[in-house]
Amino acid sequence: MSDIIGGTFAKGIAHSLNLSFHAIERREYPDSEVCPRIKVQGELEGPVYLILRPKQDQNLNAYLTEFLLTLNNVAEHVEQIYAFMPYMVYARQDKTFRPGEPLSSKIVAELIEKSGATAFYTLTVHLHRIKLKQIFNIEVQNLSAIPLLAKYTKETYTFHNPVILAPDDEALTWAKQFASEIGSDLYVSIHKERDLNTGSISTKMPDIDLGGREVIIVDDIIATGETMISACEHAREHGAEYVIGCAVHPVLVDDALSKLRRLNLEGLFTTNTLPSKISKVDVRDVIVHAIQERRGTISE
Ligand code: R5P
Repeated sequence: MSDIIGGTFAKGIAHSLNLSFHAIERREYPDSEVCPRIKVQGELEGPVYLILRPKQDQNLNAYLTEFLLTLNNVAEHVEQIYAFMPYMVYARQDKTFRPGEPLSSKIVAELIEKSGATAFYTLTVHLHRIKLKQIFNIEVQNLSAIPLLAKYTKETYTFHNPVILAPDDEALTWAKQFASEIGSDLYVSIHKERDLNTGSISTKMPDIDLGGREVIIVDDIIATGETMISACEHAREHGAEYVIGCAVHPVLVDDALSKLRRLNLEGLFTTNTLPSKISKVDVRDVIVHAIQERRGTISE
């Protein structure tokens, strides 16, 4: 038998797989320190699937600490732990962009490994200059949420001649996959440069006529919303019939959501790798499938 440990998100997965579930009581002290407590029901038999995503609006550093503390805690009891972090924090720092910065993605990977994970799973990770396998020594899997985003788009909106727009060159890989999933013949990317000191972005749209075509912007992360806003403005300037904005991970800092809502997009949605008001696409089936594969219980 296996056990699933996590929050409410993980509970649904345990239910789908008919596995025993142990909830985590996620306590935070007034000084912001965290103290996650596993409410073990009976004995932990292992292997354990630890599936934990941040709480709504949770500080991502507090979340990472919770994740590592829980891993260490589970490792006291069982040997095999499959750790699922649906949104991998610190992945964007996959290079020391400026002298003196840490290679944070690798350091976080080492912390996860040292905390006792046997294998690490995440979804649509933002690593471009380095691969997940290069920062971990344990087994890793980067599961894709793009097919689910595409499926939701197809089921929810009507379009005839869609163009998939990647808001920067790095997102082109996701735009390409999305285009193939929805059967579009055109995907393009905007060239984006970010000032590493101020964080501000400058963009250049390719010379393309979007007249009468529906534009679907696909990205991995929406954080401040600036990238999505800029991509939407470009699409409209080039004649888009309407614009839909979607992404995998709704990091949504500060007033990002209000700014995005003011764009009056035809659609704005993400997956639920993080909880948010626009987390409309449930990725739990992808995790269920990964666990079934691991356990060898997939029925064809
Ligand atoms: C960057 O390369 C990512 O793929 C996203 O485009 C970026 O993280 C979005 O950030 P923001 O919403 O702050 O512009």
